[in-house]
Amino acid sequence: MLTAYTASMAELLAPHVDMLLVGDSVGMVLHGMENTLGVTLDMMVLHGQAVMRGLSKTEADCFVVVDMPYGTYEHDADQALRNARRLIQETGAHAVKLEGGADMADIICTLVDDGIPVVGHIGLQPQSVEKEGGYKIKGRDEAGVQKLLSDAKAVEEAGAFCFVLEGTLPDAAQAVTQAVSIPTIGIGASAACDGQVLVIDDMLGLHRGHVPKFVKQYARLADQISGAAANYSREVQSSQFPAAEHLYGQKKTPAPVAEQKLYGAK
Ligand code: KIV
Repeated sequence: MLTAYTASMAELLAPHVDMLLVGDSVGMVLHGMENTLGVTLDMMVLHGQAVMRGLSKTEADCFVVVDMPYGTYEHDADQALRNARRLIQETGAHAVKLEGGADMADIICTLVDDGIPVVGHIGLQPQSVEKEGGYKIKGRDEAGVQKLLSDAKAVEEAGAFCFVLEGTLPDAAQAVTQAVSIPTIGIGASAACDGQVLVIDDMLGLHRGHVPKFVKQYARLADQISGAAANYSREVQSSQFPAAEHLYGQKKTPAPVAEQKLYGAK
C-alpha cells in the first residue's frame, strides 16, 4: 500500500501496489498543515475523486481506501455512517479507514453492517496527536503490548478486513500480527507485519522536510524538481526556451537522446 492524493500519482502507482490510501496525511503533505486535525470530509472527497480518476486510466486491479478525517466519525455512529457513505458514494473508492481500537469497535460494526468495507488503524494514531502530546511509539512495555493486542482483536471482531499498525516496536508488531487472522499493514512497525504502507511524498523524497526514521527513500525527486525549475528559469531568461522546436508551425528537431537526458543541455 502507498498513499496517493492526486490523479497523476494514482495512475503511476496503481499498477505496482495492491492498495492506494487517500490518507488524511494529505493535509500535511499537500496542504502544508501542521497535523491531520484540520482535514475535512470535503477535502477527502476531492482527493478521493482525483485518485479514482487516475486509477480509471489504468488496467490496475487496485483497491482504494479513503481516510475518515478527525471529527467525522468518532462520537456518533449515525454521523459516522452518513460520512462513510458520502466518501464511498461520491468518490467511488472501495473502503474507508478510521483510527482507533476497542473504542471504535461499535463504529466499525455499524459501517460493516451497512456493507462498507473498513480498514482499521491502531498503534500510533496521528489524529490523537494533541490528546497524547505528540507522536508516541506504542508497545514499549507489557501493558502497551496488551493494549495493542486487545485493540487488534476488537477491530478484527468488529469486522475490519485489515488494519494499519503504526509506530510500534518490532516484537509488538509480531505479536499483533500473529494474534489476528486479518492482514496487518505496518508503518514504522517492522517487517513482521503482513504488508507495508508509506506516505508517497516521503518515499519519493518529494520534499526536503523531516522524514521519519522508518522511511526508506526510493528516490530524491525534490532535488530533480528544484534542478529542473532552475534550468527552466535560466533558459527563459536567456531566451534559450522556447527554441524553434517548441514553436507552432516549426519543424521539430529533437535533440539527440544523450543530450535530452542532461539537465541544461544546450
Ligand atoms: O493518512 C495516512 O497517510 C495514513 C498512513 C500514515 C497510514 O494514515
